[in-house]
Amino acid sequence: MRLRALLLGLVAVGLSAGALAADPVVIKFSHVVAQDTPKGKAAERFKELAEKYTSGAVKVEVYPNSTLYKDKEEMEALQLGAVQMLAPSLAKFGPLGVREFEAFDLPFIFDNYDALHKVTYGPVGQQLFAKLEPKGIKGLAYWDNGFKSFSANTPIKKPDDLRGKKMRIQSSKVLEEQMRELKSLPQVMAFSEVYQALQTGVVDGTENPISNLYTQKMHEVQKYLTITDHGYLGYAVIVNKKFWDGLPTELRTQLDKAMKESTEYANKIAKEENDQALEMVKKSGKTEVYVPTTEERLAFKKVLVPVHKKMESRIGGDLIKSIYEATSFDPNKL
Ligand code: LMR
Repeated sequence: MRLRALLLGLVAVGLSAGALAADPVVIKFSHVVAQDTPKGKAAERFKELAEKYTSGAVKVEVYPNSTLYKDKEEMEALQLGAVQMLAPSLAKFGPLGVREFEAFDLPFIFDNYDALHKVTYGPVGQQLFAKLEPKGIKGLAYWDNGFKSFSANTPIKKPDDLRGKKMRIQSSKVLEEQMRELKSLPQVMAFSEVYQALQTGVVDGTENPISNLYTQKMHEVQKYLTITDHGYLGYAVIVNKKFWDGLPTELRTQLDKAMKESTEYANKIAKEENDQALEMVKKSGKTEVYVPTTEERLAFKKVLVPVHKKMESRIGGDLIKSIYEATSFDPNKL
């Protein structure tokens, strides 16, 4: 009798151990853009690779389009451990108390993706990630989106064309200052609310990489789009540090590999996705797309580059200088 009880006990222990081993670690990955965007596609790629490399020991649940959390809530949810992974835009770290990421928002600071990669793949990018750790967050990778363009319901050819316009921005003080330089009225708003705000006239215009504009159908409610490429929008893929550090080493190594490969994928497709989105916007015929001349773009540059100096006290003169050094940007030579 005692032997039988013992055997049953062993079977029960074995079963629960088996059940435990079969229970995958779940990574909830929340984001605010459509699936059909550089970030949306890269998140799906990470899911696929993470599940493959861990042989199903990790399950990644991707929640796109603000279906789980909106901009403001998602950071809190990550810190609380309600989600494990996010990829917020670099413009959204100010409210967390990490203002330095707003350096990425400085208008015209990156001439192109190559210049940007000097920062995101270099020591400055890593130094910025270190600033997240005291907040209980770990930075894993930088994912590209692209360069932003202004849109509105009236033509935009010169800086003064945005005077007095209500312009939706992300929650970045640098972007606020940028809009003030243009004499427009910046309005911070969650990404999920932008389409409706444009449609109802709560705001007059906005700025975005074209992939975001197109996949949220903003072009249907914006008559004019000018390809200013005046600033960069990209992402930091971040995890709850306690969760990440608590993973078995083997799983973490497999996930690191999945992240590395999905980062290569993200940064490979970003430009193509934005180029394709621009073609689709043009094809739709709903928005007039204007490509400024070199002189017209220079006029925006002249008005907006002084934002760098004005924002030194917020994001740090040394940090701005180290970006200039990495990218060879010279604010005195426009
Ligand atoms: C925005 O709010 O405009 C963007 O940050 C959305 C995103 O995640 O690309």
